[in-house]
Parts: sequence; structure tokens; C-alpha cells
Amino acid sequence: MSELYNRLQVLEGDTPLSPEERLRAAVRPLLSWYGENARTLPWRESPKPYSVWVSEIMLQQTRVEAVKPYFERFMRELPTVKDLAEAEDDRLMKLWEGLGYYSRARNLKKAAVAACEKYGGELPADYGELLKLPGIGSYTAGAIASIAFGIPEPAVDGNVLRVLSRVLASREDISRQAVKRGMEELVRGVIPPDRAGDFNQALIEVGALVCIPGGEPKCAGCPFHSLCLARRRGLTGEIPVKAPKKARRIERRTIVLLETETQVAIRRRPEEGLLASLWEFPSLEGDLGAEEAREAFGIPPELFAGAEELPEAKHIFSHVEWHMRGIRIRLTAPVQAPADGWMGELIFADKGELWTRYPLPGAFAAYRRLV
Ligand code: ADE
Repeated sequence: MSELYNRLQVLEGDTPLSPEERLRAAVRPLLSWYGENARTLPWRESPKPYSVWVSEIMLQQTRVEAVKPYFERFMRELPTVKDLAEAEDDRLMKLWEGLGYYSRARNLKKAAVAACEKYGGELPADYGELLKLPGIGSYTAGAIASIAFGIPEPAVDGNVLRVLSRVLASREDISRQAVKRGMEELVRGVIPPDRAGDFNQALIEVGALVCIPGGEPKCAGCPFHSLCLARRRGLTGEIPVKAPKKARRIERRTIVLLETETQVAIRRRPEEGLLASLWEFPSLEGDLGAEEAREAFGIPPELFAGAEELPEAKHIFSHVEWHMRGIRIRLTAPVQAPADGWMGELIFADKGELWTRYPLPGAFAAYRRLV
């Protein structure tokens, strides 16, 4: 079917274009729109496999503006796959501190180790091999393959699913894997072989700038304008269809800043579970007062120099919300490590080291500021 025929059909109103024909008809307008509207982003300057990979992992669950400074510092400090493979865990976590979803960073390192062992410290120029690396799913494999190597594979994330389901007026639930697989197949069939990276990034860009999440889409400037069935049928408020997520569990915690003049107590979190192996201020389940906290940590009365309530804070994880209150407990004397029993797994860090040395997740940011 010629492109002219497609256009005529489109102008006629509801058309018999198949989903694949509809997308194919959009390839040229999409690429030309991207040429004029692509944002200048640090990872686009010279899209090497390593920088595409790191940026795509950071961009999962995190906004572009928040990612930029993290990306630049990460590439400065760990400029190659080998540097990443050899990075100390705490240093890596410090570079990730505040981005959240720390298992993404752990998988980055695992995959870097595998790339050093299997591919001489490079990422493989092969979609199937990329998919075997820890933390690399079909979206990331497609992004690296297409943007860094020019391989025509799809890179379909939640934002691209929103764009595609609107263009095709698909009411299928985009949180279903089978729906994503179907869209990937569709895209695979229309990617222009010589512009794979630009094509995928153009879809991402439409999702970020035009067909935006949570808000009215800016259809007037959309390269899919005449082709988009959701716009033509007035369905952009109903599509995409996405099954509601389970409500988050709420946990109440009392965060304890146990301080001397120059030090504050921290401890390492368990190796499994939420924020695994990162550092934290000691905390207790529930809403506790100063005296209860003093007892819970077994602080000898002669060391106790006073307590103060701190403001409440909230942190939202994917499945849990922490609703926190804080207590500052002042100790009379500097604590020598290892101390005599009552400290358990606490260590007393110099206050400045909270910023420079110990990776402390963003969940504690509100209290770190008060130290
Ligand atoms: N979101 C996910 N991947 C992206 C990319 N390569 N550029 C901009 N935003 C993105």
C-alpha cells in the first residue's frame, strides 16, 4: 500500500488501515518531528553503548531532569564498563544515592562484571545477548541495540505504550506483558532499518513532550495528529487503559538521630529486602517517644543528655509508604568505637561522612538535613 494511499485513507475519516499500516504511515512524520524537537540531553551527545545503558537504567522510574546530574557524575567517576565492574559497592551506592530502586545499580554492576568476563568489557552488539545480562529487559536491550548499535529492535516502555495505544485506540490493558509483547512485535515490523535509534527515541520523545502522562495530551503539535485514532474519536481521556495498582502498605516508623557534638549513629540495613545493605539512621516500628527510644537502644542513663522531637516526614516506595516521626537524642560524650555493648550494630560516623562516605537512601533525606 503506497504512502499516498494511506494519507488519502486517513483524511477520509475512519479508515481500514491495519495497526501496522497506521504506524508505518507515521514513520516519516515522526522522524521529521524528532529532527526538529529532540531535546539536547547529555546521553544523546555521543550515544556509546555504555552511556546509553547507564542512562536508560537511570531513566526507569526517574525523571529526565533528576537524572541529568547523576548521569554526568556517574560517567565522570566510572567512565567504562570495567570501572563499573570494579567499583566498591558503597561507592556505587553513593553515586546512586537519591535515585531510588537501588537494585537497578546492583544489577548494573553484575552485568558489567558479566560483560568483562564474556565480552572483553564491551556490551554485545546483539539484542539476544543483551537480554541475558542482569537488569536488562526487552526495553533496555532494544534501547541499547537501536540507539548505540543501530540494530532495528523495539524499545517499548510505559510511555511508548501510552503513545501507541492512543494512536491505535487500543483499549487493551498496557500493564499486561502480553500487550507489551504485541506492541513490540508491531513496532519491530515498522522500524526503519537505517534510523532505528532515532525512531525509538522519537517515540520516547512524543511520550515525554506531547502525549504526556497525567494531563491533557498536546495533540496540536503531535506528529501522529491526523493518524491518531484516540484523538479522532475523543478517547485520549480513556486510553491508555491500565489496571489500578494495589494500594501501598503504610508503615509508621520513628527515626532516631542519636548524636554527640560531632557524630551521629547509623547502621547497615539487612542484605535482603527494601534498601538492602544501604545505611540508615536507627529506627523503630511505630510512633515512639524519647524515653521509649532510649530504652529500646539501651542507652545508659549517664550518657543521655536530652531529647527533642523532629518534624514528621513521608517517603513513598513502590509498595510501601513510610510515615515517619523523628527524635533527636543527645549523648553527653563522644562515643568510642567499638563501644561497650549497648551500641549493637550501630556505628558512630562523623557527621560530615553522611554526605561523603555512607550511602544513605533518599527516604532519610529529611532527617539527614537536621543532623
Ligand atoms: N526516557 C527513557 N529513555 C529516554 C531517553 N533515551 N531520552 C529521554 N527520555 C527517556
